[in-house]
Amino acid sequence: MKILAIESSCDETAAAVTEERSVLSSVVATQIAEHKIYGGVVPEIASRRHTEAISQVCSEALDKAGLTYGDIDAVAVTFAPGLIGALLVGVNFAKGLSMSLKKPLIPVHHLRSHIAANYISNPTLKPPFLCLLVSGGNTVLAEVTDYTKFKILGGTRDDAAGECFDKAARCMGLEYPGGVNLDKLATVADTKKYPLPHPTVSSGEFDFSFSGLKTAVMNLINNSLQKGDIIDVPVVCATVRQRVCDMLIEKTMLVAEKFGYKTVAVAGGVSANSELRSRMTEECNKRGLTLYYPELCYCGDNAAMVGVQAYYEFKDGNSGSASLNAAATLPIDYR
Ligand code: KG4
Repeated sequence: MKILAIESSCDETAAAVTEERSVLSSVVATQIAEHKIYGGVVPEIASRRHTEAISQVCSEALDKAGLTYGDIDAVAVTFAPGLIGALLVGVNFAKGLSMSLKKPLIPVHHLRSHIAANYISNPTLKPPFLCLLVSGGNTVLAEVTDYTKFKILGGTRDDAAGECFDKAARCMGLEYPGGVNLDKLATVADTKKYPLPHPTVSSGEFDFSFSGLKTAVMNLINNSLQKGDIIDVPVVCATVRQRVCDMLIEKTMLVAEKFGYKTVAVAGGVSANSELRSRMTEECNKRGLTLYYPELCYCGDNAAMVGVQAYYEFKDGNSGSASLNAAATLPIDYR
């Protein structure tokens, strides 16, 4: 089954052609250069750029796969969660295509597709497994009970891990996308030099909290600026990265141990973080757990992961109609 998949939930216009878990082509048109000027994604600009790029990106994905629209068996699209104006561009384009081609429309949840990025990179991975889902807007620990069934075990009480990285980077003057640049700048450092807190949550042992750390970094930078102190940016980057990774790894290991999971996967943009990847590998090895990651090219937003998840959604009878709408928020275990 050849699926043309479309992703436009934030600042990447992406299209891919997939066949079950295989990627025949994947095209991503990023808007980073434009949003960088503003230090973050400007929703209206994102929607407008998707509108301009989407047709060309889809044609390119088909060309690269050596196919035409007539060869496609279904059209898949990210419909939630994300920036509403951005999602609507993809949803409407996909609906038009599905109607004109007379092929099924498959709505795909953005976070489910981030998990599916692991199926591309790891052909042997199959549910059930525990997944740490870490992106710019979400931090969730979920059991992937089956390809389309999820049980939420924990989540952030406030900010997502990616939000904490992005805001910390921004207040240190790093360019958007902050998390990536913070990771690149962080050096092996004395992470006790700056008194940044280790995030904790008082109850709800599987939950996360990153807003306290985010505020502490902002206060540290603002106070230093006011006093004229020079901040050692690479050391602050390393400290923030260590604190965030501590919490992500600690909670993941706690849940794995408590519920006896033997297989763990990490997904979402933050799964590209170098310290998270290396330390999570060490911790899983110590405990005899099998760990999976997406390849770096599938950690961020792309449409290949949408196509792969769409295959499982369609097998499970999940198809969309002409009245499909986009949603800015929707839990991963919706239905
Ligand atoms: O999954 P994603 O591409 O988009 C969402 O669906 O949110 O995640 C984007 C997030 C941003 O916060 C970005 O800064 C973060 O992933 N990110 C990273 C790294 N690469 C991307 N954070 C830390 N280290 C990285 N290497």
